[in-house]
Amino acid sequence: MDIGTRMTLQDRLNALTGLLRPWSELWSRSILQNWPESGAAYPESWLSYAESLDEEGERRLDAGELPGEPPRPLHSLVLELRELTALPWHEGVQRLTTADAQGLSAKKVHEIERVLSLLGPRTKAIRQAVDIGGGMGHLARLCVRTFDWTFHSIDRDAALQEKGRDWLRRARALPREKLCFIHSSVEDGPQGELDPLFSGQDRVSIGLHTCGSLALTQLRKSQKAGLLLNFGCCYDQMDAARDYPVSRWGKAHALPLNRRALFLATRGRHQKTEAEFALMKRVNAQRFALGLLLRRKFPALGFVRAGDAPKTLYAGSFAVYARDRLERLRLDAGMTDAELNSFESSARPETRRLFLCHLLRDRFARALELVILLDRALLLEELGFQVELLQVFEPRLSPRNIALIASRAD
Ligand SMILES: C[S@@+](CC[C@H](N)C(=O)[O-])C[C@H]1O[C@@H](n2cnc3c(N)ncnc32)[C@H](O)[C@@H]1O
Repeated sequence: MDIGTRMTLQDRLNALTGLLRPWSELWSRSILQNWPESGAAYPESWLSYAESLDEEGERRLDAGELPGEPPRPLHSLVLELRELTALPWHEGVQRLTTADAQGLSAKKVHEIERVLSLLGPRTKAIRQAVDIGGGMGHLARLCVRTFDWTFHSIDRDAALQEKGRDWLRRARALPREKLCFIHSSVEDGPQGELDPLFSGQDRVSIGLHTCGSLALTQLRKSQKAGLLLNFGCCYDQMDAARDYPVSRWGKAHALPLNRRALFLATRGRHQKTEAEFALMKRVNAQRFALGLLLRRKFPALGFVRAGDAPKTLYAGSFAVYARDRLERLRLDAGMTDAELNSFESSARPETRRLFLCHLLRDRFARALELVILLDRALLLEELGFQVELLQVFEPRLSPRNIALIASRAD
């Protein structure tokens, strides 16, 4: 076990915020939007190291490795970030039967098998459960099958719940009356019908990939639950002013997390295959070249968001991609296809530099995610819970893989 897996929540948060704070210029600003000033914030030695890498080296950098001879300060920073984001793993799996797994995506099966095994030993005293943002209720249905709990699955999406009811009707040998779908939006503040579902020593409150603020709503509502399990996601949908920091400790060690930083926190990713990396590089090359073109041709417009193009357009020539975007933006650059393509090739050294800045900036993503989750964990600890943070899912299948588990210390 390395040092990172044995630290207290407080020590880990202190160390992470201390490490991240000096680099806020990098993680809190969009590179393309603020180019070229944004690029100037990256130490020249980091950039010339990154520029020395071939495509395989870039792919390894993207995976958090530092091939070749990285500058010493970058090397120590990345090693420390790696150590501080190394949470212990939950290893168990409770296999679904073929019948129960049928029709579910590989991701969903993977998640449910691990969540069931995580819950099993921690729920001896639990009889009832609530799932906030339960969607189609797959987890709820399989918890009823496995643990025989009474289960309320709440979601604001009625269509998803209707599909969930179909799944429930088709399920064999299940006490169907134990699973109840509630169509409602869970909000902060008192909700007379919903709030009692989150309270009681025999109740577990579950949120599997609660987007943005919904995680905080779950935490606030579940202060009297026997057990709480939350996986966060979509941190950029949080209300930064209200939802971070929320713990006393977090407030004393707060980082200036803006929307850009919250978005970066959603981008901690698994190691990409060669094909995935090549595609990401291609998409970025097209986007960055267009960004530079727009800036040059239409300086008065400031930063223009070009939006996502249909996927096939990224694979073709720059001219075809750029025409599609310019048309959507109702802009005429007055350039032929040959001129557009020649602009793209002449801009390559600059678009590569932009890309390398992104690879370097992404090194902060997982650490920022952990700062948000540690703050939530500390809030629960301050409320008297015993708290664990564990990695549960294979990042390749489900990258937002950190479970926040809180139980009443009695
Ligand atoms: C990322 S999905 C997760 C769904 C499910 N837990 C799963 O893992 O498949 C988030 C779900 O939360 C629901 N949701 C978001 N905000 C909500 C709110 N305020 N109240 C109830 N449901 C909400 C969405 O409709 C969506 O189904």
